Parts: sequence; C-alpha cells; structure tokens
Amino acid sequence: MHLGRTTLSKFLIQQLDGIEGARELGALLVDVAAAVKAISAMTAKGALAGLLGKVDSQNVHGEVQAKLDVIANDVLIRSNEWGGLVAGMASEELDDPYPVPPEYPRGRFLLIFDPLDGSSNADVNVSVGTIFSVLRHDRTDAPATADFLQPGSAQVAAGYAIYGPSTMLVLTIGKGTHGFTLDHEIGNFILTHPAMTIPADTSEFAINTSNARFWEAPVHRYVTECQAGRTGERGRDFNMRWIASMVAEVHRILIRGGVFMYPKDTKDPSKPGRLRLMYEASPISFLIEQAGGRSTTGRERLLAVTPTSLHQRVPVILGSANEVARIERYHAEHAAGHDAEFVSPLFNERSLFRPEARS
Ligand code: F6P
Ligand code: MN
Repeated sequence: MHLGRTTLSKFLIQQLDGIEGARELGALLVDVAAAVKAISAMTAKGALAGLLGKVDSQNVHGEVQAKLDVIANDVLIRSNEWGGLVAGMASEELDDPYPVPPEYPRGRFLLIFDPLDGSSNADVNVSVGTIFSVLRHDRTDAPATADFLQPGSAQVAAGYAIYGPSTMLVLTIGKGTHGFTLDHEIGNFILTHPAMTIPADTSEFAINTSNARFWEAPVHRYVTECQAGRTGERGRDFNMRWIASMVAEVHRILIRGGVFMYPKDTKDPSKPGRLRLMYEASPISFLIEQAGGRSTTGRERLLAVTPTSLHQRVPVILGSANEVARIERYHAEHAAGHDAEFVSPLFNERSLFRPEARS
C-alpha cells in the first residue's frame, strides 16, 4: 500500500540534483524535518504533557513566550547544531544569532526560523506552525549578524510546518512549492501536494480589522470595496477569514487562494508592520511566489527587501496574483495622488484618524 509513495528524502534527492551543495542542503532539510516531527508530537500532547501556557520570560520583541515557543526553539537548535551543515542559526526567540558550538563542525548554510508561529493559538488548540529560511554562507569563518542580512531573493530554501488536524511540511528550493503530509504510523513525510498553485483570482481576504483605524488609505480603499460586495466597485461578494496564525492563513491561500494582509499602519510609528522580515515574511513570500502568487510590502516586491537588522518588521500583502497586483496599484495611485475619489474623507491625508491630526 505504501509502495510508490514519494518520501521527503526521495523528493529531495530528485529535486536537488544539480544544485550547489545539494547533498548538504538535502541533509539540512531532513534535519529540519526531524525537528518538525518532534515539535508536532509536543504540540499534539498539549495539556497532557503540561506544555500549554506561558513561561516567565519575554523574547526580543517584548512578547511573553509560550512554553512551546521555548521548547520548539531548543528542538530546532539541537537538531541542527551538530551535523556540520549550518554555520549559524537565528531565531525569533533569540536576541542574537546562535553560533555553532566549537565542538561541532561548521557548514555552509545559515538557518533562520520562527519556531512556533501563531503560538498564542496553542492554548486554544488552533493550528500553529514553524517557519524556516535557508541562506548560504560561503565562507569558513563564523558568521556575524551582517552575514544573515540577505534579501529574501537570496534564499536557497524556505518552508513551514503546520501543526493542524494533520501535520504538513510545505517547502521550496526554488523549483515550485510542494506539500508533504506526516504519516505518523511510519514517521515519514509523504509528498501529497506536489506543485501547489495559487489561483490568480480570489474572493476571500484576511486582515485584522480591529486595526482599521490605523490603516493607510490604499488598504482602507481595498477592504471597503471588498465589503461592498456585489453592490460596489468589485461587483461580487467577498468572504473574510482571520485565524491569527500566519502559517494557517498562508496554508489556506496555497490550497484555495486568497489575500493575506498585515500592512503598514500608524499604530506604532516605530514599527513599519507586525510581521518579521527574516523568519516570517521572506520565507513565506518565497513559497507564495513559487506557487504563482505575489508578495509585496505595498510599495515593493517583498523578496527584494534587504534587511538592516535581524528582527526587523515589514508590511506584508500576499496571495492571489491579480488581487495583490490590484492592492499594489492602489498604493501607487495613492502615492501619485490619483485616488482621492475612492478614499473616504475619514482616511485621507487630513483625516481625523491620522495620529498627527489627533493632538
Ligand atoms: O507571528 C506573528 C503572528 O502571530 C502571525 O502568525 C499572525 O498572522 C499575526 O501575528 C496575528 O496578529 P494579531 O495578533 O494582530 O491578530
Ligand atoms: Mn510568528
């Protein structure tokens, strides 16, 4: 019954053929998959293993860490530090890059991850995930922070695991986006979703509308048009979803299309967005583009953004290509001052909702 199925290892041997450092990159992705299996087992045990709830510490973003954040981070570090494949690692949960300990050989790749994305959902038994990104470090010396600051377009591999009703691993090495389902009985990831493709059009969007008063005019214009449905500009009804777990939103979009937005807003002027560039937005954008979708900050292709710091945030608008292109156009029209007729007076330049207008 299991004969003829494509396991992750078999897939990697086939797909990586011809890529520089293929054997090492394949081995690294298998080590990441091993960590994902361990995290999957822990998230599934949940309260039975006493793993829900918070710990008494904060990460670099000032967010209270969940127990599972800390454990998932340790699992990924331990799984990847010893094999001579990575030169260093960086994580949402660590202030600075993690150097490979001196007793282990250093490899030629950098591994960056968000160990447990959407971890506030773990306690309420809603899907969470792990996001990872692989960059090259083509030198033998230990990497400094600056070596990690490569644009998303330099990634050699990226992926996420989603811990939902089934555990899946979705990855790209720049040859399409492919999904694997964990067969718990035999402990293998099996290729179940080859060449995932995002439909170019959609009638479903995802955004946290509790932030609406902080949005910029182009985002407000887009969402207002979606909400107007068949009686408005778009001439058809739209549906909305918000899971508050980026991995789960992105997985839905890879399966049936849609748009996901965590755009630039005025909530906290020191933060140009909510999501983190290096271990959330860039790897997810690589997967989205490889599945035929688009990903933008609103103003530029997200994969073109060169990081200036490890934990920097970035606005994210991604998903079905035609819809994302429309939102990009709304940003361009706004910058050129060509959208006055579409934008509610409440959200234009002299709006009551602009922070400087409130003082
Ligand atoms: O890691 C950030 C994250 O948890 C994403 O997974 C998710 O999309 C978003 O933040 C949820 O944000 P909010 O708390 O505003 O709904
Ligand atoms: Mn996250």
